[in-house]
Amino acid sequence: MRGVLLFALPGNDPMADLLARALGGEVGTLDQRTFPDGESYLRLATDPKGRHVAFVCSLDRPDGKLLPLLFAAATARDLGAARVGLVAPYLAYMRQDRRFKPGEAITSRTVARLISDAVDWLVTVDPHLHRYHSLAEIYSIPAQVVHAAPLMSQWIRQNVNAPFVIGPDSESEQWVKAVAQDAGAPHAVLEKQRHGDRDVTISVPAALDLAGRTPVLVDDIISSGRTMIEAARLLAKGSTVAPVCVAVHGIFADRSDELIAAAGGRIATCNTVSHASNAIDVHALLAAAVGDVIRA
Ligand code: R5P
Repeated sequence: MRGVLLFALPGNDPMADLLARALGGEVGTLDQRTFPDGESYLRLATDPKGRHVAFVCSLDRPDGKLLPLLFAAATARDLGAARVGLVAPYLAYMRQDRRFKPGEAITSRTVARLISDAVDWLVTVDPHLHRYHSLAEIYSIPAQVVHAAPLMSQWIRQNVNAPFVIGPDSESEQWVKAVAQDAGAPHAVLEKQRHGDRDVTISVPAALDLAGRTPVLVDDIISSGRTMIEAARLLAKGSTVAPVCVAVHGIFADRSDELIAAAGGRIATCNTVSHASNAIDVHALLAAAVGDVIRA
């Protein structure tokens, strides 16, 4: 069979190009536009018949992306693709994993079902698994997860002088400890309380001594940014060196990238969501995982 045929949903061309090069594959042409009435037009201009197809679609701000993705995957199957997969460097709808109030939608399950019906496999980077232990709890297709932590440690080692790795909350302790150990740095966690989507309070342990160190805040997602803004603000007050904020997925709702910078934080993110702060390239990890899935 010829190499994998990748299609980039809008905004995902750089990652699709990197993956195609790493996998010895080809990037096909996908035309997408919106009709005046708001419906999507979609065409796979490269024939997927008999090919192993992978759609590349990071699912930040997902509501406008999911439907075109489902149309594209259905079209590839209609046109005779041998297998159809999804590379979603950022996988959305992982947070609503429980009905907190009667009647609430458990959207993580619904989205998992839609994607599992549409494609044969999924590869993603560090999904926000909070109450689920693995994607297999909600995805019925092979779902491979790659972990950015080793690359984050490497970036910290190479770019930060005397780092002190700090997690925003006690839940992040195990993860932050591993990143810190790999970066050869001490670590600590802050105390965080979330009161609402855009309302968090954070406190710094009294014993935290950052003398001579660069505080490095490490988190999996910067979403509303409130966690990083508040943590960076507190750490900037208690340190003579500006904090560095490192995250896997930088969503940066509400222009929170600007607010983090204003709070004194320098930002580095992985290229799972396209943003000016992308400094940590995860494409080789994704390519290795896609290669494994294709060979399986
Ligand atoms: C919490 O469980 C996560 O690790 C992040 O700290 C959180 O999702 C960040 O969200 P926000 O940017 O909205 O404060």
